[in-house]
Amino acid sequence: MTPRPISRRGLFTGGAAALGGAVAGGAVTAALPPETPAPAVPVLVDHGQAIEPFYGARQAGVETIPQAHGAFVAFTLLPGTGRDALGRMMRLLTDDAARLTRGEAPLADTEAELAVVPARLTVTFGFGPGLYTAAGLPSPVTPLPAFPQIDRLEDRWNGGDLLIQICADDPITVTHAQRMLIKDSRPFATVRWVQRGFRRGAGMEATGRTQRNLLGQLDGTANPAAGTPSFGTAVWRADGSTQLVVRRIRAELEEWDLLGRTDKENAVGRRLDTGAPLTGTTELDEPDFARLDATGFPVMPDFAHVTRARQTDDRLKIVRRPYNYDDAPAADGTADCGLIFAAYQADIVAQYVPIQTRLAEKDLMNEWITPIGSAVFAIPPGVPEGGWIGQQVLA
Ligand code: HEM
Repeated sequence: MTPRPISRRGLFTGGAAALGGAVAGGAVTAALPPETPAPAVPVLVDHGQAIEPFYGARQAGVETIPQAHGAFVAFTLLPGTGRDALGRMMRLLTDDAARLTRGEAPLADTEAELAVVPARLTVTFGFGPGLYTAAGLPSPVTPLPAFPQIDRLEDRWNGGDLLIQICADDPITVTHAQRMLIKDSRPFATVRWVQRGFRRGAGMEATGRTQRNLLGQLDGTANPAAGTPSFGTAVWRADGSTQLVVRRIRAELEEWDLLGRTDKENAVGRRLDTGAPLTGTTELDEPDFARLDATGFPVMPDFAHVTRARQTDDRLKIVRRPYNYDDAPAADGTADCGLIFAAYQADIVAQYVPIQTRLAEKDLMNEWITPIGSAVFAIPPGVPEGGWIGQQVLA
């Protein structure tokens, strides 16, 4: 019997399902009769329909394996937006977020077709100090102290009363969710800043593989891993809340490019190719800070980023969930890129501030990275279906 030719369309629908949903390009080619040209685009896992649950004891988007695209949207509350109005706003935004993360259009969505690809969308709400003041409540978070040695903060990237962190494996999904949520926040708040960022695309590397930042480094190696007790201790408070620091950190890429490989590796204390510490051979080897080289100097330099940032007690660690940004370069080609450095921890003062203080004092990387924005947010607990984010704080 002559095999029935498989149309390109069939490969993307029934064909893909028949082949188990996760089909390598090679397998598809093998299933085709010889006269049928191989499809130009191999069929891969359907990332578009993947859903991250919205409801739960903790908000999604924190312990969630980072999606490929992120938008951090900060708002300034309109004058007179008090506790009741904040409750109305959060009911509305929670309903929008719950629908969008299921791949459903929110109410009054004028581009409802854009909502049908959830792509692991998460919408995470954060409350800045100003929101608590507006509600007449004490704030669990206060802005970071100044770090004059390194900070070159620009007001356009600082602060925020409300934060919505929107992450998904598809940029259109992020854009649509961002637009819907901004639309419904209009009676209550204005947009203060938006930071858009990206990591490797979904399916480009094995899930959970450490991402590379735009300086070429493997970035995230020493993070407490999602789903482990270490992560829980570092990040979650007993009530399901956590705290977030968002720093916009420019990478001085033109100067970084002038360095040789060894200097780049000494600045961070890890190898560029494998991410191994300078005292090890594989990415997950523990650095040996006591080891000396032939001249008597530590192999892991005292000034290296990893040496300065190291924290062994889980209660003092932070979890970094950064996104790269790369905006239009200057006319002379100078890059405008870096990290939207998002760090989660149970207590900013006890965990983030000591690490940042040590890095500000001395960290070779300071030569090539410049904080230009800074904001802090309390991330309220999650809610069961029917609840609204912030109800434990504002109801
Ligand atoms: C653009 C800015 C930054 C870049 C490019 C950067 C890059 C890196 C790299 C490549 C590593 C080693 C691999 C890893 O464990 O992820 C690392 C580790 C680390 N970084 Fe950063 N980093 C930046 C900013 C910061 C800031 C602002 C903090 C906190 C205040 C921080 C805290 C840490 C910590 C805690 C580690 C793990 C140290 C360890 O225990 O080994 N980093 N960073």
